[in-house]
Amino acid sequence: MYSIDPNAFMNTVLAVIVGTAVLLLGATVFASWLGKRGRVMSYLYMFTAMFGMFGLAAVVLGVRGQKSDSRPWHIFLDMKYQAKYTSQGQSKYFADGRSNRMPPMDTVPFDGTDYAADAGGHDTPNPDFLKADKRFYFGIANATAKGADGVPTGPTWEAGKLTGEGYYVNNIPPLAVEKAGGWEPLLKRGQVQFNRNCAVCHGTSGRGGGGELAYGIVGAYGLSVPPANVLTPEVQAQADGQLFNTVVNGKGAMTGYGHQIKDVLDRWAIVAYVRELQFAYGNPLK
Ligand code: HEC
Repeated sequence: MYSIDPNAFMNTVLAVIVGTAVLLLGATVFASWLGKRGRVMSYLYMFTAMFGMFGLAAVVLGVRGQKSDSRPWHIFLDMKYQAKYTSQGQSKYFADGRSNRMPPMDTVPFDGTDYAADAGGHDTPNPDFLKADKRFYFGIANATAKGADGVPTGPTWEAGKLTGEGYYVNNIPPLAVEKAGGWEPLLKRGQVQFNRNCAVCHGTSGRGGGGELAYGIVGAYGLSVPPANVLTPEVQAQADGQLFNTVVNGKGAMTGYGHQIKDVLDRWAIVAYVRELQFAYGNPLK
C-alpha cells in the first residue's frame, strides 16, 4: 500500500523546484557581483532561466489557490467519461427514479462481509464478535482431540449410541435451539437455508448424485465429483459439529459456505434440517 499524501508530495516537488530556482538566482547574482565571466556564467544563466520557468509554470498552473467545479483538462479521456449511474444519481429507467437498486429477493451476499458480527456500537461485549463459545460458534468440543496425523478424532459410539465427544460437538448446542425459539423454528429456518444454499447440488431431498441420477440441478449438469448423498449412514454417523464444519469449511471437493451463510444460527439450522432429512429418509437415530 502507498501511504504517500499526494498533497504533501506535490508541495515538496514544488518547493524543490522553486527553491532551486531561487538558489540559482542567488548564485547567479553573487557570481556576477564577483565579476565571473565565461562558461560558468552562461551555465548559471541557462539553469536559472530553466528553473525560473519551471517554477513560474508550477506556481501559476499548479497552485492557483482556488477551487473549481469545472472538470480538469484531460488530454487523453480513456474511460473517464462514460454513460453510467453515479451513487445517489437519478435513474430515468426505473419508475421510482432511484439508480441504487435493492438486490433481488433472497440474494446471498458474496463479498466476505461478516454482517452478523461487527465489533462496535454495542452496550455489552458482542458474543458474535468474540466467538468465545467454541461449541456454538465453531462446533468444536475438544480442540486438542486430533490424531498423530492431525485428523480430528470422531465421536465414540457404544451399542449404537453416541457416548463420548471427539473433536466436534456431538449435538447441536442448546444455545442454538434457544436462540431460534425452539426446534420447530430452527428446522423451518434450516429448510429455507438448505433449499437456498445446498439444494442446487444435493437436491431438496439431500440425495445429491450426478448425471441422470442427480437430484440437484448442478449434479445434473455434471461435476467432476458428484454431490454426496447426505442421507447415508456414514454421514449420519458424523457428529453434529462435523456437519457444521462441512457447511462452514467444506469437505473434500465441496467448498465451504461460511462466507455466504454468515449467521451461526443458520448454519446450525441447516445441520438440524439435514438430520430431519435423514430421519425422513428412514435413517432414524439409533
Ligand atoms: C456446488 C455444489 C455443492 C453445494 C452448493 C453444497 N455441496 Fe455438499 N457436497 C458437494 C460435493 C461435490 C460433495 C462431495 C465431496 C467429496 O466427496 O469430495 C459434497 C459433500 C457433502 C457432504 C458429505 C461430506 C462427507 O462427510 O462425506 C455433506 C454432509 C454436505 N455436502 C452437505 C452440504 C450442505 C449442508 C450444503 C449447504 C450448506 C452443501 N453441502 C452445499 C457439493 C455441494
